[in-house]
Amino acid sequence: MTANAVLSPVPPPRKEPPPGVSAMVRLIRDSFALVEPRAEEIAQFFYGMLFSIAPGTRELFPVNMEVQRSRLLRALVHVVQMVDRPDELVPFLRQLGRDHRKFGVVTSHYEAVGTALLSALKKFAGDAWTHQVEQAWAEAYTVMAKTMLEAADNDENPAWWNGRVVDHVRLTWDLAVVRVQPDYPVPYRAGQYLSVEVPQRPRLWRYLSPANAPREDGTIEFHVRAVPGGWVSRSIVGHTRLGETWRIGPPMGRMGVDRSARKDILMVAGGTGVAPIRAMIEEMGGWGDNPRVHLFVGGRTRYDLYDLDNLQRIAMTNPWLTVVPVLESEPTVQGVEHGTLADVVTRYGAWAERDVYVCGSPAMIRSTVSRMLVAGTPLDAIRYDPFTLD
Ligand SMILES: Cc1cc2nc3c(=O)[nH]c(=O)nc-3n(C[C@H](O)[C@H](O)[C@H](O)COP(=O)(O)OP(=O)(O)OC[C@H]3O[C@@H](n4cnc5c(N)ncnc54)[C@H](O)[C@@H]3O)c2cc1C
Ligand code: HEM
Repeated sequence: MTANAVLSPVPPPRKEPPPGVSAMVRLIRDSFALVEPRAEEIAQFFYGMLFSIAPGTRELFPVNMEVQRSRLLRALVHVVQMVDRPDELVPFLRQLGRDHRKFGVVTSHYEAVGTALLSALKKFAGDAWTHQVEQAWAEAYTVMAKTMLEAADNDENPAWWNGRVVDHVRLTWDLAVVRVQPDYPVPYRAGQYLSVEVPQRPRLWRYLSPANAPREDGTIEFHVRAVPGGWVSRSIVGHTRLGETWRIGPPMGRMGVDRSARKDILMVAGGTGVAPIRAMIEEMGGWGDNPRVHLFVGGRTRYDLYDLDNLQRIAMTNPWLTVVPVLESEPTVQGVEHGTLADVVTRYGAWAERDVYVCGSPAMIRSTVSRMLVAGTPLDAIRYDPFTLD
């Protein structure tokens, strides 16, 4: 497993779990800790068994399985271990279930995946695989599969949308802005994210956050940063062609400004995390009456502040918005604050009266949220999105 969580990067304080659940979670975590050092072998066994009991599932995965490094198995194990956090898990699983339709997953596949998962764990756990351990895994997996399936069955939206690329602007060698025109409007809320599959990288779906609130013409702007060694991001930045068709999955995530809260807002955006933040600000711009919003937008160098002009332009006509640029590695640049976003934001205090939205890389979110908690910001005032593994 990598260090990145499927759910929150910062664990929430433990609420008392329902009776029986804590024992179940302990059995699941302890048994997995025992086999975790052999995760690669478990993955091989898992996929081998899955493809032999349900051969139709092979074509749902990338041709080259090495590329994904057992994404599904790692995700599965991680999610199952979160069974004692139903408040976060259930809405996430419902979205995930709707989202899984885009892979071509059908009901019978869930049973096959469950069987392959339990068989793989059993094989490697040896004597530690007791009846109770098996029950705990089976029960947790079944609850999750049911939640996903139910949401998928009740979704009336398409499994994915086709979107034509109408614009591709390469801002720097590793950053591009891409505008896509879907065949039908995608029903996302400003702040949510979508998965996309590009023609150069079939079956490698990746999440991207729209940088605009939903528009009348349905177009969606994405900001894409090429990560070193990245299969999909490098291809999007370097090789997207006008007119090509992307597939776009259903909306995911729980970010979005709560209009009824009537509290002032703090927003913290790192790198391409500015995309969902801009979408939320754009949406607020249409409301007229708004709480005060203080936005810190940061990066290592000034090239990372690629959207600052747009944000400052919005602030000029929307007095409720204050934009503060932050640079980490260019101490001589004037007119910006210096340090990491975590440093700068907490320098101002706890922001205890505000609702807080944090968007960026997993590392940036982790450090910002942890430092804010230490500074005294209440955890339930801070919103950030769940992560997937990478
Ligand atoms: C909720 C959410 C929203 C996202 N929104 C955006 C967005 O708006 N714009 C955008 O550009 N990306 C966004 N991402 C990240 C994106 O989904 C991909 O993970 C990223 O583009 C890397 O994919 P890849 O196929 O190029 O890399 P992979 O081939 O999957 O990974 C290659 C290597 O890069 C590392 N890696 C993967 N992701 C990152 C990362 N984010 N930073 C540094 N190293 C990484 C991996 O550990 C691996 O070593 C978002 C991710 C999530 C979970
Ligand atoms: C409780 C059941 C399940 C859970 C919790 C689950 C969870 C997940 C998660 C979190 C991801 C990662 C998404 C990402 O990071 O991009 C994923 C990917 C995926 N899942 Fe599932 N899943 C479940 C069942 C299934 C089933 C039954 C199938 C059908 C075979 C399936 C097929 C896939 C595929 C094809 C991927 C793409 C990743 C890859 O290419 O390896 N999943 N799943």
